[in-house]
Amino acid sequence: MMGGYGDVQLLKEDGTRLDGRAVDEMRPVEIKVGVLPAAQGSAWVKQGLNVAVCAVYGPMEAHPRKIQRQDRAVLDVRYNMAPFSTGERIRPGFNRRAREISKVTAEALESVVLLERYPRSKIRVEIEILAAEAGTRCAGITAASMALADAGIPMRDLVVGIASGKIQDTVVLDLDKAEDNYGQADLPAGICPNTGELVFLQMDGDLSIEEYNLAMEYNFKAAAEIHEIMVAALAAKYGGGEA
Ligand code: CDP
Repeated sequence: MMGGYGDVQLLKEDGTRLDGRAVDEMRPVEIKVGVLPAAQGSAWVKQGLNVAVCAVYGPMEAHPRKIQRQDRAVLDVRYNMAPFSTGERIRPGFNRRAREISKVTAEALESVVLLERYPRSKIRVEIEILAAEAGTRCAGITAASMALADAGIPMRDLVVGIASGKIQDTVVLDLDKAEDNYGQADLPAGICPNTGELVFLQMDGDLSIEEYNLAMEYNFKAAAEIHEIMVAALAAKYGGGEA
């Protein structure tokens, strides 16, 4: 949430951020696939202090019948923040924010999953945020595309979730919690690392065209770095190096 607290110091004298990162430096990312034995596919993504886990079930017959599509599968995406994922306990349940994030995540994934391969079926994608320190929708999207890949669901490309934003009139990559709380803008994106396609984009706050272009440049640079980590995670389970 953008508070617009102009007096909160988020950049140090030397131009680095409070956690020591450069303006164009993302938080460390770690990824594993196949972490949940009961699911067809699963992934664990740690991005800075965020932890997202995703389980994929299916393809299975779509129920109830009214949600079925004759020509393709439907994605049933559910993003949820665990009650213990933030300092202040989150009220359990599917709130407005979770509904919105689930919807935009589903739309991002629909752009890459070959849904036409599975008519009348449903693929369930469950994203659980275990630790939330800003940027959880992005960590969730990355985790979901990895879990779908782990489930062997055919896709045109993976999707990397990554955000840039603005703090103290400066564009920075991958906002942390303080930067998100006290910053001026946030630009989360879903990027296909092979095709360079943009399958998800939101903007909170205001950016000039120049700031937007720089934020997207940072997002694309980070997406390429995260993609390498995704490929390595798949190679760790399946061998090889292509994805
Ligand atoms: O997590 P993301 O940046 O995608 O979404 P946000 O709505 O901009 O939330 C930013 C951060 O605020 C979350 O990652 C949480 O750390 C925190 N938050 C919270 O403490 N309680 C909520 N109900 C929602 C968000």
